[in-house]
Amino acid sequence: MGKTSKDKRDVYYRQAKEEGWRARSAFKLLHIHEQFSIFDGVQRAVDLCAAPGSWSQVLSRKLFEPCQTDDEKLAVKIIAVDLQAMAPIPGVLQIQGDITQESTAEAIIAHFGSGDDQKAQLVVCDGAPDVTGFHEMDEYMQNQLIVSALSLATCVLEPGGKFVAKIFNVTENDLLETQMRTFFKHFHIYKPPSSRPSSYEAFVVCSDFRLPAGYIPQIINPVRDNIREIAMKTGSEVNQRLVPYIACGDLNGCRSVVNKLEFTDKQIELAYDGLMNDPDFPDAVKASLEIGFIAEFNKRNIPFVCTHSLW
Ligand SMILES: C[S@@+](CC[C@H](N)C(=O)[O-])C[C@H]1O[C@@H](n2cnc3c(N)ncnc32)[C@H](O)[C@@H]1O
Repeated sequence: MGKTSKDKRDVYYRQAKEEGWRARSAFKLLHIHEQFSIFDGVQRAVDLCAAPGSWSQVLSRKLFEPCQTDDEKLAVKIIAVDLQAMAPIPGVLQIQGDITQESTAEAIIAHFGSGDDQKAQLVVCDGAPDVTGFHEMDEYMQNQLIVSALSLATCVLEPGGKFVAKIFNVTENDLLETQMRTFFKHFHIYKPPSSRPSSYEAFVVCSDFRLPAGYIPQIINPVRDNIREIAMKTGSEVNQRLVPYIACGDLNGCRSVVNKLEFTDKQIELAYDGLMNDPDFPDAVKASLEIGFIAEFNKRNIPFVCTHSLW
């Protein structure tokens, strides 16, 4: 989609063009660093939901490009993950994958190594799911993406590590704060000056990562997974208590894609059709979301004929 004249008037849009950033979002990460010094002491970083790559460019310019020697360069590891491919960036290894999949966490760990002194020191996530057009559904899907990003961070971060992620709807953040504080000692919500005032977007900035005693890191996707079942698979009682809380904000677990919201049957059908009919939405993600939708259709006795199987 072309940029509107409003975009072109925007100071950060123009500055991004001048300085060679792929998106104006670069300034959001730079402003977060100005406020919280997130890059200090960091050599290993992961950029989740990275395409088209302006945050990875920031990581490259801050961590990789200042290196003087080959040894210094070798010590810097930056991994960018997205469903979409993106053009190469110096010092950045790309993984085309889904952050809600276990295999993505495994690929990141394989690159870093699994020892505590080899793991990532910083995980950033600017993820945004494809929009369905229904505000509550979009916000819900965004929240689920944050849960997946957080759970991936628990798999790849070293003790003391930092986590930055985009959030929406910043007025109700008490639950989010307690969920994040399960894993991080310090928690802030920050809206950088480069984030449009009209947008509900803000960023959580967490530091001093530590795993609760007895917790086994695992990938959590509340949309796809039966939360109680996946927590049980670890054999950890701590996971069985904490995972439903991290995933859904309650201790009952969540089985349905929409169980926190009161959607009408028609809204659910339309949201489902919109997602499945979108040619840009990757098949693997469609497949994992479809499981949750079908469960909801069954629960509500919605005939399944309204779906993409007709297209
Ligand atoms: C707002 S863009 C990120 C912009 C990027 N930070 C930059 O500065 O260029 C959001 C990205 O999230 C990605 N995304 C959404 N869901 C994802 C998932 N489950 N796994 C990986 N990437 C995902 C989309 O493909 C999209 O490229």
